[in-house]
Amino acid sequence: MWDPSVYRRFGAERSRPFFDLVARIGAERPRAVVDLGCGPGELTLSLAGRWPGARLTGIDSSPEMIEKASAHGGPADFRTGDVRDWHPEPDVDVLVTNATLQWVPEHRDLLVRWTRELPPGAWLAMQVPGNFGAPSHVLLREVGKRYGVSDVLREAPVGDAADYAALLDGAEVDAWETTYLHLLPVDGPEHPVLRWMEGTALRPVKVTLDDNAWQSFRADLARELTGAYPATGGYVAFPFRRVFVVARTASS
Ligand SMILES: C[S@@+](CC[C@H](N)C(=O)[O-])C[C@H]1O[C@@H](n2cnc3c(N)ncnc32)[C@H](O)[C@@H]1O
Repeated sequence: MWDPSVYRRFGAERSRPFFDLVARIGAERPRAVVDLGCGPGELTLSLAGRWPGARLTGIDSSPEMIEKASAHGGPADFRTGDVRDWHPEPDVDVLVTNATLQWVPEHRDLLVRWTRELPPGAWLAMQVPGNFGAPSHVLLREVGKRYGVSDVLREAPVGDAADYAALLDGAEVDAWETTYLHLLPVDGPEHPVLRWMEGTALRPVKVTLDDNAWQSFRADLARELTGAYPATGGYVAFPFRRVFVVARTASS
């Protein structure tokens, strides 16, 4: 289960890659724009500012996220759905999927299918975190082993920019990687990297463990994170690599 309020912690840091991604989409007057894995909807709605004439849709498998997104009352149609079942309508000229496909093991097949199904000259833009080898995730897997939750923690669910470029070789591809240095303020007793991870990577652990085990897991991981990401000057420096792909389907 996704908790939109926990996910929204560090909203500015989480939004920046979305804006960096959509800045590389060259569409001028798309007929329809779809955001797959739209989450709580604020970023989806920002697309209405860029393309006011487009029919805008946000799709997410989490009813909690769709409830939040729909509550904005903005000019988008938000609905629950699984990206794996989604097929583009013939007028979808822009498909955006930000920070979602790392949760979908078969996403490489989906990317190939979507580029085949989108109309000629359409844009597909995706971003996934590429930080699964970072100390945060290595430590998460180490602590996870001690608690018997390894099977819900993924080693390397995403490729790098070159893998995706090779996969979409029929399209015009712009693929790149960026490592953001997030300076997370230490503004309470909890380690900020732990608070960050609670919004995303720790969710599967939380739902697997009972409450006592979850509290103990959190404390153990916090101790490890304090060693890996020490606080200096009231901040913790948290490097975060992300992988971006913008592909344009061939014109007919
Ligand atoms: C990290 S959030 C990203 C939300 C939003 N795109 C953003 O950039 O803030 C990942 C989202 O993907 C959704 N998601 C995960 N697997 C999905 C699937 N198979 N189909 C649809 N949505 C999915 C989750 O419910 C969650 O809202």
